[in-house]
Amino acid sequence: MADLVETFGGHFMSPVQDPYTAYARLREQEPVKLLDLWMGPGYLVTRYDDVRTVCTDPATFSSRSNANGIGLVMGRTILEMDAKEHTKHRAIIAPAFVPKALRSDLPDLIAAMVHELIDRFASDGSADLVAQFTSTIPIRVIAYVIGIPMQDYKTFHHWGLDIIGFTDDPPRGYEAAQNLVEFLRPLLAQRRAEPTGDLMSRLVHAEVDGERLTDEEIFSFLRLLLPAGAETTFRLIGNTLYALLDNPAALEDVRADRQKIEWAIDETLRWESPVQYASREATQPTVLSGVELPAGAQILLALGSANRDAAHFVDADRFQLARRPEEHFAFGFGRHFCAGAHLARLEARIAVNALLDRLSDLRFAPGSERSIVGLAFRSPTALPVVFSASRPRRS
Ligand code: HEM
Repeated sequence: MADLVETFGGHFMSPVQDPYTAYARLREQEPVKLLDLWMGPGYLVTRYDDVRTVCTDPATFSSRSNANGIGLVMGRTILEMDAKEHTKHRAIIAPAFVPKALRSDLPDLIAAMVHELIDRFASDGSADLVAQFTSTIPIRVIAYVIGIPMQDYKTFHHWGLDIIGFTDDPPRGYEAAQNLVEFLRPLLAQRRAEPTGDLMSRLVHAEVDGERLTDEEIFSFLRLLLPAGAETTFRLIGNTLYALLDNPAALEDVRADRQKIEWAIDETLRWESPVQYASREATQPTVLSGVELPAGAQILLALGSANRDAAHFVDADRFQLARRPEEHFAFGFGRHFCAGAHLARLEARIAVNALLDRLSDLRFAPGSERSIVGLAFRSPTALPVVFSASRPRRS
């Protein structure tokens, strides 16, 4: 546990293998633990019930804490807003991601992207599904939804990584945020003059209480969406593939009945949550699991720990395809519930389905090293697989 506690001091992007043993002990002995977090002292909350309490009481537990965290590089976004301000801004952004508002060609576009990637390695009989598959799909999708030229997605990927990794390297995070703004500025001007139906066009013409959003507000939204949409979803796809490859019986089950891909995605979200923390600040003195928190207390919700709380999930450390878990917190809970949850699930479903359609006999490369790692975000760094080689689809 000492290691985990030290890690919280500054290295949120550390490739920690197993935070779960420490979480289990914390849930049992110190469920609300005062730690030295990178931005100062804060309480780590590890139990399911406490995480739920915090997420469902935004009056006592404000999201303004995000202003001192990720907000420093992203600017002011809905993540750090409370009450009416949050409701107003969310009303602009959230409808853009509900199923019927997403461009109707999106599923076909995602499928085409995914098959094009598989074409590149289908005849090789082996691949690293992180480097060659999962890492590029979501960044291209979010770039498309926002309206960013597709040829620039690699640059965006780097900026996204630098933005979410800013706690470990602040100057790089700020530079990426600034580069992104400079890149977006002329695109916004174009959309203002000539809307095209993409998200940028929607944002430049949207109104909050009869007023248009300022450029700075729009940049902040987009700075949030780039990493929120890409750096999380590629991890979900990687974790789902890892879970299935690591459980061959589940893989066969899903291969035979594709509806179960939904189960696999949901259980993966619980078992290895791609985003491990959400942050809040106490607005008044309060008590959680018997611990008194002063007004202004910084709170870090360990979503990944809550999702493995044995008080709510039987055999919580095991991936079980048929679990049909009760509510988990991988997408948060309450008012700030992830606005992109539907899009993330859609991408994961299409990607996994396509791989199963195209690659028979898919399995981990024998003897290969593999694991899911990370503290703030979790995913495999590599997914070395072998399969029966097949022809590219379009050859
Ligand atoms: C597997 C993929 C994803 C995971 C695990 C994830 C996780 C989360 C979590 C935990 C929160 C809640 C934060 C809090 O309560 O403070 C959140 C909020 C949010 N997410 Fe996601 N996310 C994912 C994908 C996406 C995608 C694809 C988008 C956009 C297209 C997106 C956009 C957002 C936005 C805008 C918020 C802020 C909502 C609010 O504050 O009202 N996310 N996400």
